[in-house]
Amino acid sequence: MDTYKLLITGGQPLKGDVEISGGKNTSVAVIPATLMCDEPCVIENMPDIEDVHVLRDILQMLGAKVSYDSTLKRLSVDPRGVNSCEVPYRQTRRMRASYYLLGALLTRFGEANVGYPGGCAIGNRPFDQHIKGFRALGATVTEANGMICAKGKLSGATVYFDRPTVGGTVNVMLAAVKAKGNSVLLNAAKEPHIVDLANFLNAMGAKIKGAGTDMIRIRGVESLHGGTYAVIPDQIETGTLMIAAAATRGDVTLHGCIPTHMESLSAKLLERGASVTDMDDDSGIPPMSAHRAVNIKTQEYPGFPTDLHQPMIALLCMAQVNSLIHETIFESRFKHLSEMRRMGAHVQIMEQTALIEGVPELHGAPVTVTDLRAGAALVVAGLMATGTTEIYEPGLIERGYEHLEEKLRSLGAIIRREPV
Ligand code: EPZ
Repeated sequence: MDTYKLLITGGQPLKGDVEISGGKNTSVAVIPATLMCDEPCVIENMPDIEDVHVLRDILQMLGAKVSYDSTLKRLSVDPRGVNSCEVPYRQTRRMRASYYLLGALLTRFGEANVGYPGGCAIGNRPFDQHIKGFRALGATVTEANGMICAKGKLSGATVYFDRPTVGGTVNVMLAAVKAKGNSVLLNAAKEPHIVDLANFLNAMGAKIKGAGTDMIRIRGVESLHGGTYAVIPDQIETGTLMIAAAATRGDVTLHGCIPTHMESLSAKLLERGASVTDMDDDSGIPPMSAHRAVNIKTQEYPGFPTDLHQPMIALLCMAQVNSLIHETIFESRFKHLSEMRRMGAHVQIMEQTALIEGVPELHGAPVTVTDLRAGAALVVAGLMATGTTEIYEPGLIERGYEHLEEKLRSLGAIIRREPV
């Protein structure tokens, strides 16, 4: 239970400039990857978020020397002292991506015993494809007492993913980079953070080609050296702030983002009646002119990201037009709708599709965060609503958004904390 709640008084158009932070989903893949290096690594643009803090703690527990400078956004990892391949459940339950330690420690030690992951309750979220990949590379994998145990010398193999999986692609890539021989990952995920991880590993001496396509080819190498690397900006933070700007009829410029990562969202915002002006590594959202109906289907990259479905629903709740969002990636990503109905939203769910009937306005209400991106949706709804919205359990939002309150306040939002 969080000791504070967020209070948002809505109706203020967001205006001004905001810097995009380094990516959560890339950082939680790159940090475990440093364990496979023989020398110290420095990771720049590392966001000051809970998931990074959790991984720092885990790497220190394993014996690495880790320091994080939240001013410089710099994480320094010296993996040479790592002396354990065991990560207990009390640590791994704190986030979803803790299971990337399987691929990293299996590569480092030929063995990894890692507790089940935690993370957002947005569906069943199995990891059978991760295990399928480890086994294809020659590891034996067993599950007992809440631990996943992988062991064996790894040899290159061809792995076909039954469906594109970000986590599976990351974990099997980690296990393949130093496997003996060549590997091919087929039907691989193409998200920007997969490319970023491959770029980090190649900067440390790996031989990975094709990241960002559905076929990734990896030539196993003997060792990975250390070095410095800067992770890419956060695609989902960028999208969330673009949606918040449009939803409040604001006028916002986002700096340090990668507009090409945002094309599916930009297209939908344009269909809706917003406009998006892209310059190099900035994106501008001038005041919205109209509200038109849009239909969205979430898909793997470069489709509309499932992580933006929840904040987007908040935007689509306004104005008397009807829209729909069909969620194809996770089976229970609608938990926030019951909270939004308290704010006056008219949204029905029919078989993984949210039918949104636009209303003249939302009104402030007390609501509770159920998962990270649901929290983002409630923040966007609070910014749009008339009156004050109280958001309970906002700590979940800090897992994935760096200093979101401060960023919104700097754009004119009336948002503050109050002890509970
Ligand atoms: C990653 O989750 C992200 N998390 C999620 O972001 C994101 O929503 C998701 O990718 C899709 O883009 C991190 O990167 C830490 P998947 P992941 O494996 O890896 C099924 C956020 O808010 N599947 O691509 O868990 C799975 O159930 C989080 O930042 C299997 O069936 O997603 C899902 O239906 C939420 N077997 C689909 O595939 C497997 O072995 C896609 O999952 C693995 C996945």
